Amino acid sequence: MRVLLVAGARPNFMKVAPILEALHARRSGFPVQPLLVHTGQHYDTQMSDNFFRDLGMQMPDIHLGVGSGSHAEQTARVMVAFENTCIEHKPACVVVVGDVNSTLACAISAKKLGIQVAHVEAGLRSFDMNMPEEINRLCTDAISDFLFTTDQLAGENLVAEGCSIERIYFVGNTMIDSLQKHLHRALSVSLPFGLAAGKYALLTLHRPSNVDDPVGLQHLLGAINGLAEHIPVVFPVHPRTAQRMAKIRLHEDVRVIEPLGYLAFLGLMAQARMVLTDSGGIQEETTVLNIPCLTLRNNTERPITCKQGTNTVVGTDPSNILRSALQVLAAPLLQTHIPEKWDGHAGERIADVLLDWLSLNPAVTVPQHLEQSPQ
Ligand code: UD1
Repeated sequence: MRVLLVAGARPNFMKVAPILEALHARRSGFPVQPLLVHTGQHYDTQMSDNFFRDLGMQMPDIHLGVGSGSHAEQTARVMVAFENTCIEHKPACVVVVGDVNSTLACAISAKKLGIQVAHVEAGLRSFDMNMPEEINRLCTDAISDFLFTTDQLAGENLVAEGCSIERIYFVGNTMIDSLQKHLHRALSVSLPFGLAAGKYALLTLHRPSNVDDPVGLQHLLGAINGLAEHIPVVFPVHPRTAQRMAKIRLHEDVRVIEPLGYLAFLGLMAQARMVLTDSGGIQEETTVLNIPCLTLRNNTERPITCKQGTNTVVGTDPSNILRSALQVLAAPLLQTHIPEKWDGHAGERIADVLLDWLSLNPAVTVPQHLEQSPQ
């Protein structure tokens, strides 16, 4: 009985690793063969290979090598390559995580072959259809058989869209499984530039809406230049952003570096005075680490990080960003709440649900039409 687990882009690897580990740990009691598929959406060493090393993760069993392209090109290339993979390997189930183009592409290909699809991190909604990730989330959830959610609000979103509750499993957050497992090692990686813990801010930016327009990016970085008057800002730059930054002048205390591996970034985040970001996952990680997070977007698909955690959505107006950041610097650190089931065991819960289902449904473990015809 094969289960294909899909990872394509940087934020996928740390979400897949705990599920893979939990499935392997249960193999002696059940004839399941987990196979890791890397679509190749991210391919640079810093965006991909380093994560396998840092997470202690097996190298992919199957590599599709699709690379970059327009949304349609990238999605279509993954769909074609993954359809062939499913036909060759005949999985009983395909597990996709998050909201990247690879997530959607593999879900569609598998579902159209009659294979069960499990979506990890289902039900998150920004209600902003200008985000490609929101389209990916909505479409993937609509066709998935197992909807694994990180919090109760995500389950409520799915119910409001008409999903039957039998498909929804509140399991917690596999990204936090990885954080808990590796935090100790991450804290032993030395900080760059001789920086001291609590004495720097950390910045990440890669959303198309923030970085694709050079004028908008320049305005955003103007606020960061203002913040650097008060505290050094470390800025590991995503390749998408790097392409657009060449002509923008930065304060000497904005320390630009290459994208970091998982451990170096986690260590840097865990010891920062504050984090400014437009990422999704970082909003969750800072909540668990109790580090103030300013989200440089107009919305979030992760409102639990604002309701219970350390996150504040501050938008993209430069003066508002700077004012909010200076307020954080002036305020004492408060202990916030860690959301329910963000406890390091989400991957195990997911593996248990999938193996229970496989054991009760042996007839569907290999879709019949895949046995008969490779067309
Ligand atoms: C993707 C995800 C986004 C996620 C982000 C994390 C989608 C729609 N977006 O955005 O949700 O938060 O990953 O990083 O799936 N590039 C490289 N090296 C690489 C990968 C990309 O140089 O290894 C460059 C290419 O020029 C590429 C651009 O970065 O065109 C954007 O990459 P892409 O995978 O299309 O989207 P991301 O912006 O990384």
